[in-house]
Amino acid sequence: MKILVTGARGQLGNELKRLFDTMRAEIGSIDNVYVNAEVDYVDYDDLDISDAVAVRTWLDQHGPYQLIINCAAITNVDGCERDEAGAYRVNAMGAENLARAAESSAAKFVHVSTDYVFPGVDPISRTEDDAVRPISAYGRTKWAGEVLVRSSCSRAFIVRTAWLYGYVGKNFVKTMMRLAREAGKISVVADQYGNPTSANDLAYEILKIAATEEYGTYHATNKGTCSWFDFACAIVDGVGISCEKESLTSAEYKQRFPQSADRPAFSSLENKHLANTVGDEMRPWQDALADYLKNLPELEG
Ligand SMILES: NC(=O)c1ccc[n+]([C@@H]2O[C@H](COP(=O)([O-])OP(=O)(O)OC[C@H]3O[C@@H](n4cnc5c(N)ncnc54)[C@H](OP(=O)(O)O)[C@@H]3O)[C@@H](O)[C@H]2O)c1
Repeated sequence: MKILVTGARGQLGNELKRLFDTMRAEIGSIDNVYVNAEVDYVDYDDLDISDAVAVRTWLDQHGPYQLIINCAAITNVDGCERDEAGAYRVNAMGAENLARAAESSAAKFVHVSTDYVFPGVDPISRTEDDAVRPISAYGRTKWAGEVLVRSSCSRAFIVRTAWLYGYVGKNFVKTMMRLAREAGKISVVADQYGNPTSANDLAYEILKIAATEEYGTYHATNKGTCSWFDFACAIVDGVGISCEKESLTSAEYKQRFPQSADRPAFSSLENKHLANTVGDEMRPWQDALADYLKNLPELEG
């Protein structure tokens, strides 16, 4: 099997590579269908997914692929507010370029999306059947990507995840550890709730889904819902850093950072489709975080 992973230098791309290299994730072994898979890992420098011609040319020269996994995205939520058009080029048009290329070469296509497609007004976990209404530029561009992928590719898996952290790259976990150590204080929003999710666990579920022909939209997050503040406390307590912990409301945060994007108050996802198809093996977020904190010194990149 020949596989293309785009955005491979990012958090999720690196965990997919780890799984293909070792055939293991923290929560299980990888399906035998991937034994001897030949995987091309590309990022922006090799293949800018927003360039339709470059995408077609890459596939002509390096394909055909049986599976394309798109991990490339503009993920800076506040940055998307400043340049929504730029984010749209990658998160929407880039996704469409890959979806079209997958369709014309009969490849399966995995596209990763976000909980931020939901407005998160009511405190109810959302399934794949619920109506979306993004409230940020990032959410709008990711939703546009979903729509374009669905209409361009008949073999697409759209996998929504949330609050992702991997061993390689920047993320909230590493930021909290750094701030706690360097500033001795963390100030974190306590009225936005979601599902912290390990990129290693997500990569495992993605490979399980992609081995099937059960195309459609999936939610894939670790189990349990918490606030950013709860998550931050679990991180610093988990590594034993003592620091001052200040909880903020979203309104207080916005006063300090007026340019920041609006975020859903409650964007918890329910992995309904996953449970009904390949099985939901995502563990509680506290267990995934504990493994991450234990392994980080060895695997950090
Ligand atoms: N991170 C989260 O909390 C979170 C939450 C929900 C959903 N997701 C989704 O999960 C997926 C993976 O996220 P992640 O955290 O692994 O992202 P990430 O670490 O930011 O990695 C994304 C990668 O895509 C690359 N990229 C950006 N523009 C590109 C382009 N035009 N062509 C090719 N590559 C490009 C980035 O390169 P540069 O670094 O050079 O820009 C980066 O290496 C994304 O679809 C994201 O929207 C993430």
